Amino acid sequence: MSYPFQIRSFEEYQQKYKESVEAPEKFWADIAENFLWRKKWDKVLEWNFAEPKVEWFKGAKLNITENCIDRHLNTSGETPALIWEPNNPEERTRVVTYNRLHKRVCQVAQMLKNNGVKKGDRVCIYMGMVPELAYAVLGCARIGAIHSVIFGGFSAQSIADRLEDAHAEYIITCDGAFRGEKVIPLKDVIDDALIGNKTVKKVIVYTRTRNPISMIRGRDIWWEDEMHYAEEQVEKHGKAFFKAEEMDAEDPLFILYTSGSTGKPKGVVHTCAGYMIYTAYTFVNVFQYQPKQIFFCTADIGWITGHSYIVYGPLSAGATSLMFEGIPTWPDAGRFWDIVDKYKVDVLYTAPTAIRSLMGFGDEPLKGKDLSSLKVLGTVGEPINEEAWHWYDENIGKKKCPIVDTWWQTETGGILISNLAGVTSSKPSWATLPLPGIQPLLVDENGKEVTEKDEHGLLKGNLCIKAPWPAIIRTTYGDPERCRKNYFATYPNLYFSGDGALKDEQGNYRITGRVDDVLNVSGHRIGTAEVENAINMHSGVVESAVVGYPHSIKGQGIYSYVITNGMHGDADSTRKDIAQTVSRIIGPFAKPDKIQFVKGLPKTRSGKIMRRILRKIAEGETENLGDTTTLLDPGIVDEIKKGKV
Ligand code: WT7
Repeated sequence: MSYPFQIRSFEEYQQKYKESVEAPEKFWADIAENFLWRKKWDKVLEWNFAEPKVEWFKGAKLNITENCIDRHLNTSGETPALIWEPNNPEERTRVVTYNRLHKRVCQVAQMLKNNGVKKGDRVCIYMGMVPELAYAVLGCARIGAIHSVIFGGFSAQSIADRLEDAHAEYIITCDGAFRGEKVIPLKDVIDDALIGNKTVKKVIVYTRTRNPISMIRGRDIWWEDEMHYAEEQVEKHGKAFFKAEEMDAEDPLFILYTSGSTGKPKGVVHTCAGYMIYTAYTFVNVFQYQPKQIFFCTADIGWITGHSYIVYGPLSAGATSLMFEGIPTWPDAGRFWDIVDKYKVDVLYTAPTAIRSLMGFGDEPLKGKDLSSLKVLGTVGEPINEEAWHWYDENIGKKKCPIVDTWWQTETGGILISNLAGVTSSKPSWATLPLPGIQPLLVDENGKEVTEKDEHGLLKGNLCIKAPWPAIIRTTYGDPERCRKNYFATYPNLYFSGDGALKDEQGNYRITGRVDDVLNVSGHRIGTAEVENAINMHSGVVESAVVGYPHSIKGQGIYSYVITNGMHGDADSTRKDIAQTVSRIIGPFAKPDKIQFVKGLPKTRSGKIMRRILRKIAEGETENLGDTTTLLDPGIVDEIKKGKV
């Protein structure tokens, strides 16, 4: 397989960018010709951002799994589609060829059908990073069921909320997941999430850790038994087959929940055709992937990065995608480098937080590791600081590998701003140039394009996009109004990302971080309101306010100011109780790093918390807190400053 749409020079990038802006429909239709369609489209694009309405390739019929699997079978059936590295390095590796993947996905599709799952039904997937997770995702796509993958770190309460929001009737999970030394009891968490739930009919349980679990008659069934039965059904003539459901271009493919500035996560909906084309296009161009290379994305499939660049992007390009079950620091901090060495990884795509954490272990974990197979490095999820960028460049890439700094979001489906490895220039801590088809715009608070440069010749503003690209969010599940308000109403006729950015004279973009009340902790997005809601669930809490502060490894840490009506025991045990409450309500990754008990919060006369002041105090700023005269009780600020933790 070669990629006719792979850009190979800077001039070609400029040419393609120009074409994509001048004639977007022709541009994307030409790319779409490289995919497998049951029926071609009637119209390439119909849109307006006012509703919003975005429809790509309307009238086309396809199934994304035929593009990710079936069409590679003749030429690359024995090429590894997935390589799986287990948590425990002593355990056997698994190599899943395209032929094998095809068979497994057909079996899952049959298994789902046997259990009553139909096109359009929502299937919640809560599993560790095992190949069966990828089979489950693709099995859903094959029968047209809408998957909603929930990251294994979310609590029972979070799962319960998501099950209810999506009206999910089916769950696929594992008994447990291995993560370093720990076993995460996934099925127990599901059991807790299902207390009181009336919609879930079946829970399919894959055996991974073999920790004791409860199995409820009529509801809980074993993956292995069901897959065995399905195997007999799909293996009719010595060759497995399950006919893929014919999907409309704009049928939903999946829901993925993500945090915003309100307390409730929203279900971002992506659809079949546009998402497929955009993830494949960006995968091939940003990473400059060449056939047979080993692509290692260290994300979890529970986040959008794993959806787009472990599963759908690489597989639709016929690539070999490496999937890792464990964590970067177990058995030791050399684990990523062992994996690169073991499989001769060509492309490594990871997060700044992982780089910063591994950087902290020094050179020792790198000794004796052959990293010479690496050709391209990538980062995603948060701004990368220059120190981490240079460490990555020198110690991992040995100054020979381009680093792509890829900016995008759950809502964008795929990478929007990034250099193309070795084709367009990198600039440390800058995401650089927009991909073809992407038209960024920096605006001020009133939505006016910023034109005034600062003393360094930079433009600074809120990052918007002017026109739709194929993988743009279509709606928020069950609540289209929320989608409109969140992304398309702040500035009329623009998609608003929620990020701030700088632009230099060459047209490069540098993402400076969120401008809304959303935190980015270790590359995980979390709303301050969500954490506040969880803290407020604690029986001793009267009120709380949460802000971010700079954290050397996580990027941002969670700082919370809490008013209590009495501690139970000392302050420290109360802090731990509050952290535990958050862990139960959201998940362990949302636990506040710092909890400061306060008597009051800085509020305006209208009762609004002045977060700006709280942010500054959390950042360690004591002098320039800005105007505090509008506060109801300005004295509260000094008290908070004194009590800083
Ligand atoms: C937010 C999206 C996209 C996959 C992982 C996170 C931040 C993402 C970068 C980057 C600076 C980045 C933004 C964005 N972000 N990539 N290369 N440089 N910031 O997905 O959970 O939807 O979060 O992550 O703030 O809005 P997500």
